[in-house]
Amino acid sequence: MSVSRFEPSGSLRGSVTPPPDKSISHRAALLAAMANGTSHISGFLDSADTRSTLAAVEKLGARVETSNGPDGSLDVEVEGIGLDGPGRNAGSEQVQIDVGNAGTLMRLLPGWLAGQPEGAWRLDGDESIRRRPVDRIAAPLSQMGAQVRAREDRLPPLEIDAAELRGIEYKMPIASAQVKSCVLLAGLRADGTTTVIERDPSRDHTERMLRAAGARVTTTTEGMDLAIGGRLPGKRVSVEATGALGRSNLAVPGDFSSAAFFIVGALLVPGSRVRLRGVGLNPTRVGLLGILNRMGARIEVEEGPPLNGEPRGTIDARHSSLHSTQVAAGEVPLAIDELPLVALTAAFAEGETVVRGAEELRHKESDRVATVAGALRAVGGDAEAFEDGFAVRGTGGLRGGVISSHGDHRLAMVGALAGLASRDGVEVQGMDAAGISYPEFESDLASLVGGG
Ligand code: S3P
Repeated sequence: MSVSRFEPSGSLRGSVTPPPDKSISHRAALLAAMANGTSHISGFLDSADTRSTLAAVEKLGARVETSNGPDGSLDVEVEGIGLDGPGRNAGSEQVQIDVGNAGTLMRLLPGWLAGQPEGAWRLDGDESIRRRPVDRIAAPLSQMGAQVRAREDRLPPLEIDAAELRGIEYKMPIASAQVKSCVLLAGLRADGTTTVIERDPSRDHTERMLRAAGARVTTTTEGMDLAIGGRLPGKRVSVEATGALGRSNLAVPGDFSSAAFFIVGALLVPGSRVRLRGVGLNPTRVGLLGILNRMGARIEVEEGPPLNGEPRGTIDARHSSLHSTQVAAGEVPLAIDELPLVALTAAFAEGETVVRGAEELRHKESDRVATVAGALRAVGGDAEAFEDGFAVRGTGGLRGGVISSHGDHRLAMVGALAGLASRDGVEVQGMDAAGISYPEFESDLASLVGGG
């Protein structure tokens, strides 16, 4: 476990190209392995999580070759094994797959494996993954006819045996892009049509990428009533069974979730102005911008040409005078990984910021309701945890102190920013966790401190 100290900095100035998108990188490797033919992925995220996905598809029989790409990214060539490849390559022994810390791999891969004609697999990972629920995917997969078994019916390891699947209509009890994606991948090998209904739209990279690979994916929008009044567009996403997916050549846009740390850094540290280039701007990912906008943030977004059907552009953020806001359940999936940053921002805003309907945060790399509220309190913030969210009262800044990452990459990076914006500095215990999604975080941050 590494310890880093982040002292109060002068302004953050300059520009950063954030690392490639983690969600898209996982999906690109999986879909390339599922395809027939050789796919090229440029600008693939080189991080612990996405390395786990490359290793997993290699274990299933895909040929994977990596070389160094620009800005610390990877260029990856994957020779796919086809939709029934894992079954063909399985042999008589149960295949052991180590997902490491990667929740996305743990939730998406079973969708592919569940409908194999033969074979057996066991997915396991690190201590954190073993605490994160998989019943959310086991339930719909079982309804489709899959043979899946979880520890205590709920937790990894997850065992999967070959089975024949039938299409279902699945109304998701929680808003989760991982669950939606798992069911859609299973639908590729199921009999007939598989439909997922989501009340609150979640990130839609899988739908976009499946379509690009030739799958028939249709999306219809239905008006959904919101408890607080107004309506949000809920979604029905359907996929038809198919025999094959096409290979693709794709480039991965910058990760909005990684860029978000510097957006917030710029807002909080006086005198800052930061430009983030090449950032993915998929509307199902950028909910944070709407929340920060309501808080009075000075942020400008310039949309450029899309990359593989994913909107992309430049974000310019400056130090801002902020006030509190309320975040409702419908907004949560669109900003799920950025809610720890909302909490940090709220500590610097005037008034009380409340996030509700975010019970899902408790099932991330750490219990982020508890760890984020705890981290803020440890450095002088006024934060209260609820079962489904938190309240943070602005105190005009943070004193500083010690924050433990609890092995959670996003918490480690929040701790770093808290240090820069604090009065006395913050020591982050377990800073190495940042390597799960953003290995270059500390050097990119250093390039902005005193930059200009
Ligand atoms: C992800 C979806 C989100 C997010 C996670 C990545 C994905 O999880 O928190 O970091 O790539 O689909 P849920 O969909 O389970 O909320």
